[in-house]
Amino acid sequence: MKTTNVKPATGKLGVMVVGLGAVTSTFMTGVLMARKGLAKPVGSMTQYDKIRVGEGSEKKYLKYNEIVPIADLNDIVFAAWDVYPANAYESAINAEVLKEKDINPVKEELEAIKPLKAAFDHNYAKRLDGDNVKQVKDRWDMTEQLREDIRNFKKENGIDRVVVLWAASTEVYVPVDEKVHGSLAALEAAMKADDKEHIAPSMCYAYAALAEGAPFIMGAPNTTVDIPAMWELSEKTGMPIAGKDFKTGQTLVKSGFAPIIGTRCLGLSGWFSTNILGNRDGLVLDEPANFRTKEVSKLSTLESILVPEEQPDLYTDYYHKVRINYYPPRNDNKEGWDNIDIFGWMGYPMQIKINFLCRDSILAAPLCLDLVLLSDLAARAGRHGIQRFLSFFLKSPMHDYTKGEVPVNHLFQQYVMLKNAIREMGGYPADEPID
Ligand SMILES: NC(=O)c1ccc[n+]([C@@H]2O[C@H](COP(=O)([O-])OP(=O)(O)OC[C@H]3O[C@@H](n4cnc5c(N)ncnc54)[C@H](O)[C@@H]3O)[C@@H](O)[C@H]2O)c1
Repeated sequence: MKTTNVKPATGKLGVMVVGLGAVTSTFMTGVLMARKGLAKPVGSMTQYDKIRVGEGSEKKYLKYNEIVPIADLNDIVFAAWDVYPANAYESAINAEVLKEKDINPVKEELEAIKPLKAAFDHNYAKRLDGDNVKQVKDRWDMTEQLREDIRNFKKENGIDRVVVLWAASTEVYVPVDEKVHGSLAALEAAMKADDKEHIAPSMCYAYAALAEGAPFIMGAPNTTVDIPAMWELSEKTGMPIAGKDFKTGQTLVKSGFAPIIGTRCLGLSGWFSTNILGNRDGLVLDEPANFRTKEVSKLSTLESILVPEEQPDLYTDYYHKVRINYYPPRNDNKEGWDNIDIFGWMGYPMQIKINFLCRDSILAAPLCLDLVLLSDLAARAGRHGIQRFLSFFLKSPMHDYTKGEVPVNHLFQQYVMLKNAIREMGGYPADEPID
């Protein structure tokens, strides 16, 4: 490895997850099993991908940890918060994502991960009714209690660095309100005034993480860190933030497939995406106010890839619809259908159908690992604020909308951003971005 300015990944990395459900129990089980050599972390870029560095005769392909210091899986210590008291073993069994034979070898370690009391407000996820919940005076007190949890976890486990990852249920949609979310001072005032309408519990987790010197990742589509107040806090505390919404199944396909249509200058008249899903995530998303948050996130993908203003003949007024239907028999095995109405030479219509029979948590687990390890890397590299290079992993990448910035949704442009950030942190020159 070249000499870089990135601090080494020495000591223990605490990974505190908000939500101990299907995704996070699958993530934890996989990491613990991989550590024992009993499973492979398939789908994880940090564990498998190779990046080209150097040109011509100097050219070589290196794994991420050969370019930059990435934390070792053996150094990870897990903790979690959840509304329900089930430990990580019980949660993995209940989720029915993994077979018992793939959970039992790490049963003891999983059982030791008992959820801390959640910072929760029933109005933000009406379908949940667990009682492993903090008693709080107001939103400020909620944040203070979470900060104490982080400090205790570090002290009790001899942790050097912490990353906080939200993979809890999607909260109801919170529109950005400039008066409350526009500055850190306004946000803090609203927390102290217990403004429950504008301050989601997820904002308290994010505030607590950043204030305690931990990067924060938003894996659901919640507004949380996608507001100027949180950008200000992350700059102030020098911490990275990433979000929103893991890009796992249908949207991954969309952001990889839409460039085919755009690159060939074919027209688009409609894209209808529908899903059936039967896990707890699906149950929460069955509530219209929670689905609205997801819908906004899922809809944002196409507009910046197939841009109507740039190609009015091809992309004006295409009809884009996304649905998620709760269907218990499928549990975590989501089925997605995409019907794409395109048109070609002289406007003649054609159709493309994509049927993805996936496993939601199997797709999300490697993203959890990569986002955690790369956020920790970013913090050690002194990067703070929105981490645009992590857009590759996210459905609705954060961007500074107050300055008219447009998010990058095109999968292959995002991949170049990811590789260039790793190259630069490793002391290698970045490649030209792709258009
Ligand atoms: N799996 C995927 O492909 C995928 C993709 C993108 C986003 N996501 C998002 O990831 C999240 C997790 O998905 P999942 O399938 O594991 O859901 P899940 O319902 O199995 O787990 C979520 C857990 O979060 C807990 N929770 C809710 N509010 C909380 C709070 N305020 N504090 C602490 N815990 C809280 C719930 O009790 C639940 O146990 C969801 O928001 C989902 O939309 C998943």
